[in-house]
Amino acid sequence: MNESIKIRGGRRLSGEVRISSSKNATVAILPAVVLASEMVKLYDVPNIEDINALNKILAKLNISVEQHKDSFVIDPTDIKNVVLDGEEVRKLRASYYFMGALLGRFKHVKMLYPGGCNLGPRPIDLHLKGFESLGATVKTEGDMIEISADELIGDEIYLDFASVGATINIMLAAVFAKGRTVIRNAAKEPEIIDLSSMLNKMGAHIRGAGTSDIKIDGVSRLKGCIHDIIPDRIEAGTYICIAAAMGDNVTVKNVIPQHLEALLSKLEEMGVEMEVGTDYVKVLSADNLKAADIQTQIFPGFATDLQQPITPLLCIANGVSKVRETIYPERFKHCAELNKMGADIVTGDAKATINGPVKFKGARVTATDLRCGAGLIVAALMAEGETIIDDAYHIYRGYDNVIEKLNLLGADAE
Ligand code: EPZ
Repeated sequence: MNESIKIRGGRRLSGEVRISSSKNATVAILPAVVLASEMVKLYDVPNIEDINALNKILAKLNISVEQHKDSFVIDPTDIKNVVLDGEEVRKLRASYYFMGALLGRFKHVKMLYPGGCNLGPRPIDLHLKGFESLGATVKTEGDMIEISADELIGDEIYLDFASVGATINIMLAAVFAKGRTVIRNAAKEPEIIDLSSMLNKMGAHIRGAGTSDIKIDGVSRLKGCIHDIIPDRIEAGTYICIAAAMGDNVTVKNVIPQHLEALLSKLEEMGVEMEVGTDYVKVLSADNLKAADIQTQIFPGFATDLQQPITPLLCIANGVSKVRETIYPERFKHCAELNKMGADIVTGDAKATINGPVKFKGARVTATDLRCGAGLIVAALMAEGETIIDDAYHIYRGYDNVIEKLNLLGADAE
């Protein structure tokens, strides 16, 4: 697939943009439905490619998904635990949540290794160690992985790194395990709290999500539930960067500002003036931006997923900014693309040095991954002339109706 997005830059933006539900919560919540014995209704599922791929996996498992205008009704009552070996498994990283969910429900899962954005090495050893601690055996053969257990028994699991994926996968597998599972040094991201609150509505006993100690007391059955998914903090952060780049009083709505504290305080430090409401952020002005240093960290630190969208703002800021990646040391492919548009960024050693200010010029660039694509959109909106962003399918994986939302704000994108 080689779809492209064309943006003619330089237009001021104004008005309101409504943020969709969280991609990274939804991609855990859909596989979690495997654990239910009854129907689950989810409101405001985002219209993004990653969800389409997960729906294909649900269909393979004989789980029906009815898509209504504002909700998905998912019926897992006739679920069949089949081998997941289709291309859709490789399309996204989050297909690995079927490991935890199917292992939890059936004590057996066989599937392909997951795919997802190429951000450098992305091992899943912590997930597998967690499953083994619960009593499972892991076998790999080529690209296939098979995990099975006679029974799953709760255990204390210490994560060497507070991995989002490993925390979620262990939670999914442990919901039906006998006794208590404790995940120590668990990830604290808001998406984990959202999944835990949905599982608890279904009858699970999970305490401590959002802290570094999560306790799961096993139950024998989960019922259905109705769940509203939290807003996407990364989509929100991206539009706040867009508003800082080109906006005249743009309001970003359906936001939980507490999820964005690291970004908002960094933007404030750079000189962006904002009004922060209970569920919105309005960007008032962003003139003469100051350079700033950023270090990506686990939540509540500065999100690695916002490192790429904020980089174009650092490029137009006065002075030298430094970005250090502590989550994905190789997540800098956007810098070479931004340099094609006139940026002056030097990368190496998990760091980027950004010399500003520069003026962006339209160019032909490539979205090498989802958030790289988001960064290129921010730059393209500011650029003089036309930018073509190739491989835009990466962007559609995570940004709901992006062209429509940009054009509603007054951009010229197609
Ligand atoms: C989640 O990925 C998100 N994906 C990512 O979002 C996000 O960048 C990342 O968390 C960090 O916040 C989803 O939620 C689907 P990790 P995940 O396990 O779970 C290492 C986006 O743009 N690690 O917290 O894969 C790993 O290599 C994306 O929306 C191990 O070494 O992230 C990385 O360096 C991309 N062994 C670090 O931990 C493991 O077993 C963080 O990974 C697992 C992870």
